[in-house]
Amino acid sequence: MNRDLALNLVRVTETAALRAAKYMGRGDKNAADQAAVDGMRQMFDTLCIEGTVVIGEGEMDEAPMLYIGEKIGCRDGDAPKVDIAVDPLDGTNLIAKGRPNAIAVVALAPEGCLLHAPDMYMDKLAVGPKGKGVVDITAPLEDNIRNLSKALDKDISDLTITMLDRPRHEKTIARIRTMGARIKLFGDGDVAAAIATGFEHTGVDMLLGIGGAPEGVIAAVAMKCLGGDFQGRLVAYSQEEKERCLKMGIEDMNRVFYLNDLVKSNEAFFAATGVSDGELLRGVVYYGNNKARTHSVIMRAETGTIRFIEAIHRLDKKPDYAI
Ligand code: FBP
Repeated sequence: MNRDLALNLVRVTETAALRAAKYMGRGDKNAADQAAVDGMRQMFDTLCIEGTVVIGEGEMDEAPMLYIGEKIGCRDGDAPKVDIAVDPLDGTNLIAKGRPNAIAVVALAPEGCLLHAPDMYMDKLAVGPKGKGVVDITAPLEDNIRNLSKALDKDISDLTITMLDRPRHEKTIARIRTMGARIKLFGDGDVAAAIATGFEHTGVDMLLGIGGAPEGVIAAVAMKCLGGDFQGRLVAYSQEEKERCLKMGIEDMNRVFYLNDLVKSNEAFFAATGVSDGELLRGVVYYGNNKARTHSVIMRAETGTIRFIEAIHRLDKKPDYAI
């Protein structure tokens, strides 16, 4: 696949971020999400791909745009056939309340190479490159903590484990505390939290816990690009969810999806733009004079190149970017 695709992909997340950021603190998470979806959808058609949304805003009858199965891209004869996973705004509540850590995010891989994860929960584990191969989601938590501490050459008391702040994590939190590791709880946005484990300077060593399965696939693409690891297990809370898994051919609810099950190709791309300030990316800033700044990261699994892109946009010259 043409490597320049990664550079073009960032325009898609930049547009979603610029549009969503207009809704910061306005208390309307649906409007913020819709703005991000509209911007992302519009920009996708400028990409020379024959794309199918496999992780999106919902089924066709639930979402008018970026729905699962939607065909997007310029669809020229030579355009590569790709699977697309989008989360136009990961952290809709965060933006509604003007809180940090919201991002606009896209992942892409050759057709058939991304897990078509159903819209349900997934138990997740993510670590950076040094933690790859020493942790396993099926192993006792205590073993994973000890092994990670050795691999990172950090005392357990210096390890930082990040988790969604949810009552469902209380028992895990208590076990981590008993081990003496540090915990960083966050309100929303576990794609950004997973990615943070891939960058030593964030000080975040491992993501654990249950969040959205679609977000899990997107985070897995990023972890593949970063040389880290991501493992997940679907969590069905209802009979309907179990049936959905069966329909997908998943009979064993304990099945672990390792990185290569979630992202089957090395030709994968990832792009994210900060909407509000986060550990890795700064949020959109609107300047006077119709200018705005965005901060993004783009990555390719094949080469492992990570690029941070800070862009100043002249919105009067690019009306599609912000409305
Ligand atoms: P939205 O942006 O769709 O609201 O998702 C935010 C998020 O925090 C995800 O990052 C995470 O995977 C999921 O919600 C967790 O779900 P829940 O809020 O139900 O625990």
